[in-house]
Amino acid sequence: PSRGLVDRFGRRATDLRISLTDKCNLRCTYCMPAAGMQWLPQPDLLTAAEIHRLVRVGVEQLGVRELRLTGGEPLIRPDLEEIVRGVRRQHPGLPISITTNAIGLDRRARGLKDAGLSRVNVSLDSLDPETFRHLARRDRLGDVIEGIEGAVAAGLGPVKLNAVLMRGINDAEAPGLLTWALERGLSLRFIEQMPLDADHGWTRDGMVTAQEIREMLSTRFTLSPHPAERDGAPAELWDVRAGPGTPSGRGLSGSDDRPLGTVGIIASVTEPFCGDCKRTRITAEGEVRSCLFSHEEFGLRDLLRDPLETGESETDRDHRIADRWRAAMWIKPAAHGMDHAGLDSTDFVQPERSMSAIGG
Ligand code: GTP
Ligand code: 5AD
Ligand code: SF4
Repeated sequence: PSRGLVDRFGRRATDLRISLTDKCNLRCTYCMPAAGMQWLPQPDLLTAAEIHRLVRVGVEQLGVRELRLTGGEPLIRPDLEEIVRGVRRQHPGLPISITTNAIGLDRRARGLKDAGLSRVNVSLDSLDPETFRHLARRDRLGDVIEGIEGAVAAGLGPVKLNAVLMRGINDAEAPGLLTWALERGLSLRFIEQMPLDADHGWTRDGMVTAQEIREMLSTRFTLSPHPAERDGAPAELWDVRAGPGTPSGRGLSGSDDRPLGTVGIIASVTEPFCGDCKRTRITAEGEVRSCLFSHEEFGLRDLLRDPLETGESETDRDHRIADRWRAAMWIKPAAHGMDHAGLDSTDFVQPERSMSAIGG
């Protein structure tokens, strides 16, 4: 029998996502309410040392092969560099990445690279300052762009950009966002909005579907399936070539047949990829979540903090952490169920936690 993080449906989780904080300095409408949330008290957050221990147990006992640090906004943690450095020291070959809004990243990119960070994904939903301010409820587009440039300059690539499209708000920007990304050699992914916002304001009609995104992009570019194996990744990748409406200049109208780059489409809702899911999540306060949409959690923090019992060694404790983590993953739901529920039927129950409190 396998000792890894397997579930009842035979999936094996090798991709660990740890949320470092539930706080964020933006208030994106698809994620957080304008007023923010009831933040976790500082002592409830996992410490750097606790994170190092969980990653070690994950890698040494449970088959974890890749680490992503998320939030909220991971750059909010002043000890992010220390967290990365400690993981890197223990696991020289482990890919470590963050998913961030990039505010302040220009100032920290070099330090993070030196600490051992492999790469970054950045959320960027609009290149129009007014739209950005409306969407993120903060006037910070300039900071985000500086952050992206800083990450590229520090060698934290390949930098991937994430754009959640919302009907009537930023969907018309899709070709423009792609042009911007291609010009900089960045890999952009468009994301279907999922019902994980704290305000429970998600609607089927407000979501821009993968099908619509492909149609929109095809008016300007020529898309063809990217040859590389998808391997459980959320994004379906397309090679992008110039089309009839591709703006000329900045090398984007190349006449040979080489692609200008790729674009990804993350169709979590309409074309779910749950059957190939490899993710296991830990929230900022140390709860294992087997799925973005699960309704059950298994806390690991007491095992990290409670004193050892009589006769118990640190190694015994590591085994108990691993056992509980396995138990949490065993009951991972088969899928999020939105597709079965017909997307807006009442069968689908949105999890109590919103995206920022799960860790994206
Ligand atoms: P890489 O491609 O390896 O960089 O990772 P990624 O795309 O998984 O990471 P990222 O944190 O950038 O997530 C991008 C988007 O993928 C998120 O906004 C989610 O919308 C979606 N996503 C990530 N993980 C999951 C998941 O487990 N389930 C679903 N349904 N969507 C996910
Ligand atoms: N649906 C889809 N993606 C979301 N993200 C945050 N909330 C949602 C949602 N409701 C994305 C962010 C970020 C990533 C971590 O998750 O844009 O790129
Ligand atoms: Fe995996 Fe759940 Fe996301 Fe589906 S919704 S891909 S099962 S985490």
